[in-house]
Amino acid sequence: MSKKIISAFLLALLVLALAVSGCGQQTSQAPKTIKIGTEATFPPFEFQDDKTKEYVGFDIDLVKAIAKQMGCEAEIVSMGFDGLVPALEAQQIDVIAAGMSITPERAEKVAFSDPYYKSGLSIVVKNSDTTIKSFKDLEGKRLAVQIGTTGAEEAKKIASATVREFNSSSDAYMELVSGGADAVVNDHPVNQYYLVQGGSKESKLVGDILNSEDYGLAINKKNTELSQKINAALAEIKKNGEYDKIYQKWFGAKVQ
Ligand code: ARG
Repeated sequence: MSKKIISAFLLALLVLALAVSGCGQQTSQAPKTIKIGTEATFPPFEFQDDKTKEYVGFDIDLVKAIAKQMGCEAEIVSMGFDGLVPALEAQQIDVIAAGMSITPERAEKVAFSDPYYKSGLSIVVKNSDTTIKSFKDLEGKRLAVQIGTTGAEEAKKIASATVREFNSSSDAYMELVSGGADAVVNDHPVNQYYLVQGGSKESKLVGDILNSEDYGLAINKKNTELSQKINAALAEIKKNGEYDKIYQKWFGAKVQ
């Protein structure tokens, strides 16, 4: 075989390999770098490392593992939680990874991946509080929540409660500590993490966990190819133990 034929053959192989990886062509629906939108005040799912200033957390590790499985790079951008769906619709980002609960309202606008984490809402109050023991005790109280979240939606359903919406979930906790709110309604694992990380000096969890919610990654509805690839990659990292590793790193326990 001549050198020319061999190199043509190798080139054809390369093109084929790139095509099947799904990340080889910028023009394909799954670009080489997937732009991931998040809102990084939501530890342990997404937050900024104090020292390195990098975005870290369960969701960040998860999307990086998914991207790697697809042969792509993940680029993380952080923005307001309520800006994520509009940014996805405007194709400024390819995927939302933000502890976003799968809800019927959101599913009208975005395509959700298969669920990747089971969550729910809970309440944090000051240690000194003796009046709030459940969601029904929130009536007439001042509630701090993060804007655009399921916690905010739930708080708004509570009769005669005053709901203040903050841009970050850290600001909602700060409002509680400073006495501007009687309770924070937020995702249970985030409340738990906040208390374990030092919040328990002033605050505590009360009541049951409300509404079991599933987190999903959100993808533009038009990008069905990317949705399929993400689900395939998610299934693969669940099978090969990568998901379990990430889960243990952030939650220290086995997936039930
Ligand atoms: N799970 C809740 C929701 O979907 C809260 C998510 C907040 N996420 C964040 N990164 N701040 O509304």
